[in-house]
Amino acid sequence: MFKIQTLNAISAIGLEQFPRELYEVASEIQHPDAILVRSQDMHGMKLAESVIAVGRAGAGVNNIPITELTQLGIPVFNTPGANANAVRELVIAGMLLASRNICQAWNYVSQLENNPETLDMKIEQDKKQFVGFELMGKTLGVIGLGSIGVKVANAALSLGMRVIGYDPTITVHRAWELSSSVQQAHSVDDLLMECDFVTFHVPLNADTRDMINSSRLKLLKNNVVILNFAREGIIENKALLDALNEKKVLAYVCDFPSPLLKNHPRVVSLPHLGASTKEAEENCAVMIVKQVRDFLESGSITNSVNFPTLEVTKNKTGSRLAIVNQNIPSMVAQISSKLADAKINILSLSNKSRDDIAYTLIDVNSDLNKDLLKEISSIKGVIQVRNIVFSE
Ligand SMILES: NC(=O)c1ccc[n+]([C@@H]2O[C@H](COP(=O)([O-])OP(=O)(O)OC[C@H]3O[C@@H](n4cnc5c(N)ncnc54)[C@H](O)[C@@H]3O)[C@@H](O)[C@H]2O)c1
Repeated sequence: MFKIQTLNAISAIGLEQFPRELYEVASEIQHPDAILVRSQDMHGMKLAESVIAVGRAGAGVNNIPITELTQLGIPVFNTPGANANAVRELVIAGMLLASRNICQAWNYVSQLENNPETLDMKIEQDKKQFVGFELMGKTLGVIGLGSIGVKVANAALSLGMRVIGYDPTITVHRAWELSSSVQQAHSVDDLLMECDFVTFHVPLNADTRDMINSSRLKLLKNNVVILNFAREGIIENKALLDALNEKKVLAYVCDFPSPLLKNHPRVVSLPHLGASTKEAEENCAVMIVKQVRDFLESGSITNSVNFPTLEVTKNKTGSRLAIVNQNIPSMVAQISSKLADAKINILSLSNKSRDDIAYTLIDVNSDLNKDLLKEISSIKGVIQVRNIVFSE
């Protein structure tokens, strides 16, 4: 029986994919094998020694202590792309909110006196302050062409916009999805100089923190709209406030309210709603449950942020050793020699590495006793050893 601890509410459609005869799932549970999380901050959390996997139902993993978990040999899974359509739709809405002054106009109407005799006249007098502009023909710059950025770029093209993209590490898969009409920028600076709208779809890391600072804001044309549905921290708030006040930036639409910006008349801050649709939550839950099940039941790794991808299927019989070790020479040789000493024949062996971690799966058709597992665990550099037993 596997035990799963949920740190946040995970959509029932996903949790139903854990067969009851094989899984116990609860928010409070002793000795969990895996943890499922959405936005709860896991930094500083004391982890039970039994945990061998963490699944994040969503894309961003800033709430998870990846380095510490990697050192413990624990893979962290996420669900890239499962919420991409939800974010795409909100980004398009964000461009329209800004270009048509929708929030300001709505706010104006809600504050008007409820007087049927003067209402129409007042509206006709005042509406010119909300005159906007159309998206068609304007240029959108998309920084980060991953699962969300590609969808935003393609959708903007279909609204008649010109789209420029920047992503020095775009994957082949995403490049295939991206419309050939999207133009390539060779640097963030080149992109910023040409846009009427700029949207960010990059992870927050050392390279992207404060990507937009006061010197980069100076490169913009006047009256640009900036959208940030990626993460707070990508744009320096104080520099942005100055750019808003100088009318360099016409409007800022973001998913991360900050005390400095949230009450500015040309800032629209949403309460982190990007992935908050029923469909996205269900997609994320179904995807993360499948990935965590595949790992627990067969050792397979798909969409891990800290482990190599190693996709395998379940066998009908026999055992599979799943070994996490440091990525240093002669590990596989030492493990194989322990098996040879125990007269165990290897049916198949797969080994992949990523940064400092290597992951090895070895299929055998004999039983593996505890002493042998202990011996393999004692090899210098081995971090985790797990025996997965298959039976029909
Ligand atoms: N607002 C929300 O609710 C919400 C929801 C989902 C995701 N997000 C955020 O959006 C981000 C993007 O999500 P995704 O699913 O598209 O991720 P993704 O991993 O599919 O795409 C990220 C892309 O950014 C590119 N990139 C990385 N560093 C870059 C740099 N310095 N310059 C240009 N490109 C760079 C990568 O090559 C990759 O193609 C996530 O990391 C997350 O922080 C927010």
